[in-house]
Amino acid sequence: MNTEVFNAKTQKENGATVAGRVIRAGGLVVFPTETVYGLGANGLDGSAVSKIFEAKGRPGDNPLILHIAKKSDVKPLWKHIPDTARRLMDAFWPGPLTLVYLKSDLVPDEVSAGLDTVAVRMPEHKTALAVIRAAGVPIAAPSANLSGKPSPTRLEHTLEDMQGRVDVIIDGGDCEIGVESTVLSLVGKPTILRPGGITKEMLESVIGAVEVASAVLNPLGENETAASPGMKYRHYAPSCDVVVAVGSAKTAAGLICREYQKAEQEGRSCKIFATVQTKNYYNGKKYVIIGDRDMPQTLCASLFGALRDESDDTDIIFAEGIPEDGQGLAYMNRLLRASGFTVIKH
Ligand code: TXA
Ligand code: MG
Repeated sequence: MNTEVFNAKTQKENGATVAGRVIRAGGLVVFPTETVYGLGANGLDGSAVSKIFEAKGRPGDNPLILHIAKKSDVKPLWKHIPDTARRLMDAFWPGPLTLVYLKSDLVPDEVSAGLDTVAVRMPEHKTALAVIRAAGVPIAAPSANLSGKPSPTRLEHTLEDMQGRVDVIIDGGDCEIGVESTVLSLVGKPTILRPGGITKEMLESVIGAVEVASAVLNPLGENETAASPGMKYRHYAPSCDVVVAVGSAKTAAGLICREYQKAEQEGRSCKIFATVQTKNYYNGKKYVIIGDRDMPQTLCASLFGALRDESDDTDIIFAEGIPEDGQGLAYMNRLLRASGFTVIKH
């Protein structure tokens, strides 16, 4: 398949118009959002949606998010709009919050993967909104990576995975948030199925107590069913091993230095994801500074890009764990999954 690439800044109108036409005709479009790049198709057309699963190699039982361009567009997609959803939409839409609620008959089974719920989000990114508006339908879109790989946050990573598999790619530069949206289920007690840019604390300030699904920070038990099917799969896996050292900055850095040396003696090529607080511990070792431990959003913004860029000539990446509050929860969720829950501690 020939993939046309548009630049969102220089070819704004044109790119969105073409993308809208391609979506309406049942094709596939990669577009930027404030979280990660999405791989979109007409969310009301089951056979168009099937092409997403094919292009990504995504398991058919993992449902998709419908992306809308204005709040009222959620109405035909859900059975009704619960009061909690209304309050959250007012507070956080457009933005990186996906809400899961009972689906209407309009939503094809391909989108919900047979569940009786559907996930909906209104992104904030101007290009994303322009594409959805031009399409005139909700756009079903997972992250635009091949299944299992880290979500793409830069144009080059979407090209790596999707060139030749989709009709159009819109270049929107780097994604600001860098991890996917918070997924909150409003069926029963409000529960975070996947943490993201809208934190537990932010949600609780609007609707009161919010639970966090246990699979957010723990591997799924053998006989456990996933609240969110996406939790079953190995995610964000770069082409090398990832090890997470937990504890204070000093403890984590100490553990990393010890394990780095051991691995190097075994002939393995190592790299460290350092932070501004810990870089001095790693003198003489190979490291990249990926952010600031006190500003987890900086770590979220660079994690997926770094996992892709730094893994090629590396056998093992060592990264530091951080406290799980605020956006730290989203960071630890992605990092632990990327490592397959390989953790070292004192
Ligand atoms: O930021 C994002 O959310 C990005 C951009 C492109 O919008 N999209 C994204 O989609 O991350 P995806 O498909 O990679 O992740 C969607 C997650 C999966 O873990 C899926 O299992 C879960 O949301 N999900 C979708 N529909 C669901 C539902 N009805 N019930 C429970 N979980 C659902
Ligand atoms: Mg994904």
